[in-house]
Order: sequence, then C-alpha cells, then structure tokens
Amino acid sequence: LRFTMHLSIFLSALALLPTTLAQLSGSVGPTTNTRAKTTTKTCDITAYGAKADKTTDIGPPLAAAWAACQNGGVVDGNMIMIRDTTDFEFFSSTGKGAIQGSNGYEVHKAQGQCKGARLLRTYRVTNFSIHDVVLVDAPMYHLVMDSCTNGEVYNMAIRAGEWGCLDGIDLVSNNIHIHDVMITNKDECVTVKSPSKNILVENIYCNWSGGSAIGSLGTGTAISQVVYRNIYTWKSNQMFMIKSNGGSGYLEDVVLENFIGHGNAWSLDIDQEWSSMSKIEGNGVQLSNFTIRNWKGTEANGASRGPIKLNCADGAPCTDFKITDFAMWTETGNKQ
Ligand SMILES: *[C@@H]1O[C@H](CO)[C@@H](O)[C@H](O)[C@H]1NC(C)=O
Ligand SMILES: *[C@@H]1O[C@H](CO)[C@@H](O)[C@H](O)[C@H]1NC(C)=O
Ligand SMILES: *[C@@H]1O[C@H](CO)[C@@H](O)[C@H](O)[C@H]1NC(C)=O
Repeated sequence: LRFTMHLSIFLSALALLPTTLAQLSGSVGPTTNTRAKTTTKTCDITAYGAKADKTTDIGPPLAAAWAACQNGGVVDGNMIMIRDTTDFEFFSSTGKGAIQGSNGYEVHKAQGQCKGARLLRTYRVTNFSIHDVVLVDAPMYHLVMDSCTNGEVYNMAIRAGEWGCLDGIDLVSNNIHIHDVMITNKDECVTVKSPSKNILVENIYCNWSGGSAIGSLGTGTAISQVVYRNIYTWKSNQMFMIKSNGGSGYLEDVVLENFIGHGNAWSLDIDQEWSSMSKIEGNGVQLSNFTIRNWKGTEANGASRGPIKLNCADGAPCTDFKITDFAMWTETGNKQ
C-alpha cells in the first residue's frame, strides 16, 4: 500500500489549493469524528455471536450489534448493506481489515455472469465515509453507492477475480469524493452512473481492470460536474470510456485530466454507438462541456485501437469538447 500512501501525501499538499474541491458542492464525510463515536460506545459483532469461521452467518450478530449501537457508537465487524442512515463511517480501525467475499470467484464461475451478492452496498446514506478497508473477491460488484449524498471513499484496495460483473466501485450518487484507491479486477474500475452530480475521483490505480467509465447511459440521463484526475491505468480494457447507444438526457461539465496509461486496449473511448448495448429509444445522450487534458503513455496497439475514439450520437452531437496535451503512442507497430 505504499503507493497509495504516497498519493495521500501528495493529495494533502494539493488540498491547500482551492481548486481541489471545485467539483464538490460542499463537505463530504460523517459529521461526527471516529474518536467521539468510539467514546460513545463500541459494539463488537464478535460479542454478539459473530465468528470468523466461514460458516457462521454474521447477519444476526451484525443486526444485534447495530441495534445495540443505534443511538451512536462504533459497530465493529463486517457489513454488507447499509441503508437510510446519516453521519456514518465504515472502516477498519487498524487499517488492516479486509472483507473476503466468500469464494466469490468460484461462485461467479459456477453461476455465470452477474449473479451473486454485492460485497458492500450503501443506499440512501448521507454524510458518510468508507475507508482503510480491503475488499476481496466479491461474488458480484465490490462497492456500490446508490442514491447517497456527501460521501468520501478513500485508502482502499479492491482485488477481484478476472471476470465481468466484478466491478470495483460503481456509484449513482451526489457529492462524492473517491480518492487513493487501487483496484485489480476485470470490469469497471470506478464508474459513475445516472443520475449523479458533483463527483470527484482522484488518485486511482486501475490494474488489469475493465477501466473507469461513465455509463452505460440510458433514457433521461442526468450527470453533471464530474472530475477524474490522476488516474493510472495498466493493462485494462480502457483508460476511460463513455458508453451509450441511443438514449436521452445529458452528461455535462466533465474534466478528465492527468491520466497515464500503458498496455491498455482502448485509451479515451467515447462510444455512443456502443455495440455491447442494444440501441434504446432516443436521439442520444447530449455530451457537452468536456475538458480532457494531460494524457500520457502508450496503448497496446494503436493501429487497431487508436488512443482517441470520439463516436458521438448523430442525433445529439458532442459540443464544447476541449482535448489538449494528449501524448500517447503505440506499443505495437509504428502507427496509430
Ligand atoms: C450533512 O452534513 C451537512 C454539513 O456537513 C449538514 O448541513 C446536513 O444537515 C447533514 N445532513 C444530515 C442528514 O445530517
Ligand atoms: C495487477 O494485476 C496482476 C494480474 O492480476 C497481478 O498479478 C498484480 O499483482 C497486480 N498488481 C498490483 C499492484 O496489485
Ligand atoms: C464547464 O465545466 C467546468 C467543469 O465542471 C465548469 O467549471 C464550467 O463552469 C463549465 N462551463 C460552462 C459554460 O458551463
């Protein structure tokens, strides 16, 4: 984890710059700090019957610990889904904690695509953080944030099997800051879905991954104010993709800056006729006001998959796109 720690230090230096939070609409994270919560009460799930023996169902102990701490405090243990709460923090107090998705890779292999439990899902949670925890081998997606507000996700490692549907982080949310995360998997790295706004994603390492994306986008897409920066992508499907086929609505005010990639199939891949998705009704999602700058590195084979692909919807042509300081070259052959 030394790599992410270095990035954290780098981030603190950057935090002095007023631009750092430009994309967010206000503060993120819980309103009560960890020390204050620990002083209130600690509800350790092992005191309520949880055992790390691969057979005991932690559901009832978790519910009991949660009930015991319902007026504030810290619940110690592994959690699966958190919903309808506020001022919430999910973390490993030693920074060494990991949640193992119970042979997720095997479950996934046996059941085929997209079946199984999400490792960690938050739903309608506000003022929260998730940090210093490792997620390993989910049966399906690793961290999904749905309809959440004012969240911070940081100092995490995610390690999945090399299959589809093992997404790292997916979010459909408002005012979320994700930073200092490394993900090894074979589907989405950090992906924003509709509706979302005020999203800042920075200092991310996508390793042998599907790569990060926005999408796939459907009818009534509403996504704005999204920044991805300092994204390192290695041997993945793409460095960044926007995917749709038909549909309607908008995706606007997007910044994709300071990307480095090597060994990836696609680099910048905006595809509004994405063939993996059947065409849906609508003239296309309107993409506007994009700033894409400072992309460096190499792509696997520039002749077959060039570093910039912009395939905008015929019925909703991309507007106000600025692509600058884009320096990438092919690893195979001598043209791109
Ligand atoms: C979330 O935090 C913000 C300020 O940080 C506060 O204004 C708001 O009331 C909080 N929301 C809830 C539901 O507690
Ligand atoms: C990157 O992924 C490869 C292939 O799964 C793995 O061997 C390697 O350990 C990963 N690197 C890191 C830093 O996690
Ligand atoms: C374009 O997007 C940037 C980044 O979100 C924002 O600062 C700027 O105000 C937007 N420009 C317009 C004309 O909306």
